[in-house]
Amino acid sequence: MVGMDSWLAFPLAGFRHVADAMRRVIIGLTGASGVAYGIRALEMLAGLADVESHLILTSAGKLTIGMETDRSVAEVEGLADIVHPVRDISAGPASGSFRSAGMLVAPCSIRALSAIANSHSADLLVRAADVTLKERRPLVLMVREAPLHLGHLSLMSRVTEMGGIIFPPMPAFYTQPACLDDVVSHTAARALELLGVELSGMFRWEGPDRPVSGG
Ligand SMILES: Cc1cc2nc3c(=O)[nH]c(=O)nc-3n(C[C@H](O)[C@H](O)[C@H](O)COP(=O)(O)O)c2cc1C
Repeated sequence: MVGMDSWLAFPLAGFRHVADAMRRVIIGLTGASGVAYGIRALEMLAGLADVESHLILTSAGKLTIGMETDRSVAEVEGLADIVHPVRDISAGPASGSFRSAGMLVAPCSIRALSAIANSHSADLLVRAADVTLKERRPLVLMVREAPLHLGHLSLMSRVTEMGGIIFPPMPAFYTQPACLDDVVSHTAARALELLGVELSGMFRWEGPDRPVSGG
């Protein structure tokens, strides 16, 4: 018979506290308009030494990269530390034991929103989002569609009830953006902050009597 001491000693021997592990952030990029937001988020993460970015790109997302930007899919994939094929349901982000700081889907199509709201985890993007929710990690969906019918709103409300964060890419004008690039950067930075990624240089409102700060 196995004694209590040896039963306890074996499993604990392999477990250690990991104090300063590299933070992983999962970025999903779907076929809604606004792939620039996901691309900018990847660019921002690429500048951070302590963050490992994991990209999941849908087929429609690849199409919209070609339609909305002058980047190639390979260039966008090159911004991420690791790219997971959306069909690879065996990849790390498909499991809750894969550590991550959370997931941002930018932009998020209504198709992806609907699949996430219904835990219809038929591809890696939806499975990773579902895992993020079940593990109670931050899931930020940059849902882009306009106008919205009641079905869209119900799906957003459902994901919110499940703990997800609906973050439509709505421009902030208090930053006095000089160009579209400023708008995209501010929105992407605000979304990443919800995953605990702090970025210096982001404009922050400090009150009407104080200048907007970029610290
Ligand atoms: C140029 C372009 C723009 C689109 N914009 C949107 C959009 O803003 N929101 C949306 O929900 N779907 C949009 N779609 C439709 C989605 O790409 C389509 O529903 C697709 O099936 C989404 O698949 P995915 O979620 O796997 O990326 C757009 C399609 C194209 C080609």
